Amino acid sequence: MELSEFVSSLPKVELHVHIEGTLEPELKFALAERNGITLDQQTPQQVRDSYDFTDLPSFLAAYYDGMDVLRTEADFYDLATAYLTKAASQNVRYVEMFFDPQAHTSRGISFHTVISGIRRAQIDAEANLGIVSTLIMCFLRDFQPEYAMATLLESLPYAHWIMGVGLDSDENGNPPANFEAVFARARKDGYLLTCHCDVDIPHSIEHIGQAINQIGTARIDHGTNIVEDESLVKYVAKAGIGLTSCPISNSWISEGGKVAEIKQLVGQGVRVSINSDDPAYFGGYIGENFQYLLEAGVDKQFLIERCKDAVAMSWASPTLKRQLLQ
Ligand code: ADE
Ligand code: ZN
Repeated sequence: MELSEFVSSLPKVELHVHIEGTLEPELKFALAERNGITLDQQTPQQVRDSYDFTDLPSFLAAYYDGMDVLRTEADFYDLATAYLTKAASQNVRYVEMFFDPQAHTSRGISFHTVISGIRRAQIDAEANLGIVSTLIMCFLRDFQPEYAMATLLESLPYAHWIMGVGLDSDENGNPPANFEAVFARARKDGYLLTCHCDVDIPHSIEHIGQAINQIGTARIDHGTNIVEDESLVKYVAKAGIGLTSCPISNSWISEGGKVAEIKQLVGQGVRVSINSDDPAYFGGYIGENFQYLLEAGVDKQFLIERCKDAVAMSWASPTLKRQLLQ
């Protein structure tokens, strides 16, 4: 997708990107070679051609499979450096990146290896490219809450590198309420809270209600299904709970990429930011997501307002927020 000059030049903030979802097939091959791993496919294009997601589980299968090449601190450094370089090239100024430690500790890679590689990339990217970033640690909701709690405790020595916690992976049958105690402890430890409520999941409205009322989440990742419940929309608008929406990601699963819902919610006073989710898998970084919205008929002012919403919803300091709005 060719980016217009307007989209390219717009200063951006990204609040919903999974660092493991930025693993491009070319880097996957390079890391496989470095680590002596033989991949099923012969070329990066064959990897891309194998992506055919119809729902969240079919995406997640490819996403977790792809991570097998991430083994060393240098691998995580290269992964995060590639994403931050790409984001900076699209005029992203500030990013809050998700990472999934359990996707790595569950296959024998230490928490320290993962976070120290990502952190080193963040420091270098800020120094060399001027892009400021922080981390949100996600718990995998298809593992037991006890494993999430153990991961939370393991994260505490690194808490000064982590802004908040979230909940991701397969939502069907894994409601936010199962993780209430984990989030309560995370809040006590000073982490800010967000939670995936993916699009078109069974019991979607129930899950969004739990995230707001039981978890006390500050934001909802995706969450556009609230359009189905007018009282919830009013509550979210009044409470200033923002939605981090990812139209191209949503378009694989839901026709129209939830653009109509985004427009409706914005019209009802809900803060909505635009993001890329897993750009290497869904085929679009934040710029392509803005372009997708333009091509779906929104105007430039709508995109400028989404950038302002992203700054307002972000967990940046008041000083940094003022800088990001200049
Ligand atoms: N993990 C990575 N991307 C995700 C998404 N969009 N939803 C849930 N879990 C994820
Ligand atoms: Zn996501």
